[in-house]
Amino acid sequence: MVTILEVGHNDKKKFISVRWKLVSTYLLLIFVTLIIINIFISKTILNIYIQQKQNDTFTKANIISNRTRYQLASDRMNEEWVKKAINEYSKEINGRIIIVDKNNIVKGDSNNLFIGDTFKHDEIQKALNGENSRRVYNFRDTGRVMYVSVPVILNDEIVGATLISVSIDNIYLEVKHISRKVALISGISMLVTAIIAFFFSDAIFKPLGQLKNAINKVAQGHLEEKVNIDSNDEFKEVAEAFNIMILKLDQVDTQRKDFVANVSHELRTPLTSIKILSESLISGEDFNVDVYKEFLTDIDSEVDRLNNIITDLLTLVDLDKEKLTLDLKITYMNFLLERIYLRLKPLAEKKSIDLELVLNEKIQLKVDNEKIQQAIINIIDNAIKYTQTGGKVKLKLYNEGKYAIIEIKDNGIGIPEENIQNIFERFYRVDKARSRDTGGTGLGLSIAWQIVSLHQGTIEVESKVGVGSTFYIKLPITT
Ligand SMILES: Nc1ncnc2c1ncn2[C@@H]1O[C@H](COP(=O)(O)OP(=O)(O)OP(=O)(O)O)[C@@H](O)[C@H]1O
Ligand SMILES: [Mg+2]
Repeated sequence: MVTILEVGHNDKKKFISVRWKLVSTYLLLIFVTLIIINIFISKTILNIYIQQKQNDTFTKANIISNRTRYQLASDRMNEEWVKKAINEYSKEINGRIIIVDKNNIVKGDSNNLFIGDTFKHDEIQKALNGENSRRVYNFRDTGRVMYVSVPVILNDEIVGATLISVSIDNIYLEVKHISRKVALISGISMLVTAIIAFFFSDAIFKPLGQLKNAINKVAQGHLEEKVNIDSNDEFKEVAEAFNIMILKLDQVDTQRKDFVANVSHELRTPLTSIKILSESLISGEDFNVDVYKEFLTDIDSEVDRLNNIITDLLTLVDLDKEKLTLDLKITYMNFLLERIYLRLKPLAEKKSIDLELVLNEKIQLKVDNEKIQQAIINIIDNAIKYTQTGGKVKLKLYNEGKYAIIEIKDNGIGIPEENIQNIFERFYRVDKARSRDTGGTGLGLSIAWQIVSLHQGTIEVESKVGVGSTFYIKLPITT
């Protein structure tokens, strides 16, 4: 039974399109970046404003100190022009001015509230110690206030201190306002980005949709399905890889069908013969023993044929198994070839074929003894089979670069050029009728090819009709 899987979004997990994931990731990134930028801009502007305010206030405090120092030192701060000056400066800076003498007694106050009082304050204390000082306080009722204090110096002596307090809430308000504007611009740009990203991603992910549709069609058995994508990016590469995969899948499918058809056909032929022969024996009445013997001999050879086919098929199935482990052993190829030579000599002699073995070098290889023997035998067996009586088959072993070569040369019927590329296919026979006579099923070479491939080797063929064929088994020399 074939289960067709729909490629889609019907899984239990909620489907979220890559497109959305991408767009939302982009937006999140932009959002975080904009927030960081916004915070940074606000902080920088705030610092600049406050620094500016602080500098201005210090300048003013020094001017006031300089203008009033003689009066402060000689306790004449109640002169009218001094009071007026303090008031004017206070209006100008929009803040409060307090001037104390070196004993912390308030001598000047733009609000006229503390005059004569003792006024002790951290900032005043620092100024009386000769330091310029600044601090920002955040009062619940009046908001953020900056305190700036400077010493009043006359003839290198500290005669008092000037303290200015100014509200800086307006600076915070201003920065907040700017920050809101930046946030608004950020919001608009995010919206624009989202729209652009959405439309761009639509174009980017279009090929993915095409690919998905093609995969769905293939899953339903349409192996002729092709994807055409002209986006010139990774999607195109995926589509090309997909098309190649489908082509391979199609080929494998065809091979599978052919294989099943071939196997059925090959098994049926001997079975039909057996059936006919046995039926003739059953229905015939007056056969003598010789006829029985002849028919039974034929049945026996057909059974042998069936047996051979099945053995070959089982060998192929074994070789096809993915993790077939080779029993690799260091082997002297000379001895191996000698053994094969002795084994096949009688077969050659039966056909009066001169089987010759030429060994010049001793070559050691790491091979699976049994399997490599089978591959070599299959090829020599062909050479004997497809060479006329009285012909010649020559075996040679030699080194060529990193390869050991086993050469099998015959002067037999040869293989037409157009058929050479097919002879390693399963069940392929150049001359079907003739091979059937010689008992061939067309599996020998595909078995040999598989075995040699498993040893990382190759088989090459040179052949000419009527002249003969030469097979080269090339096996890598591994140390
Ligand atoms: N030395 C050769 N000379 C001429 N033709 C050959 C030779 N070797 C192989 N062939 C051709 O290649 C075909 C495939 O060979 P292969 O060994 O796979 O099958 P087979 O010999 O027909 O059957 P099997 O080996 O399974 O009994 C043969 O049928 C034959 O036509
Ligand atoms: Mg063969």
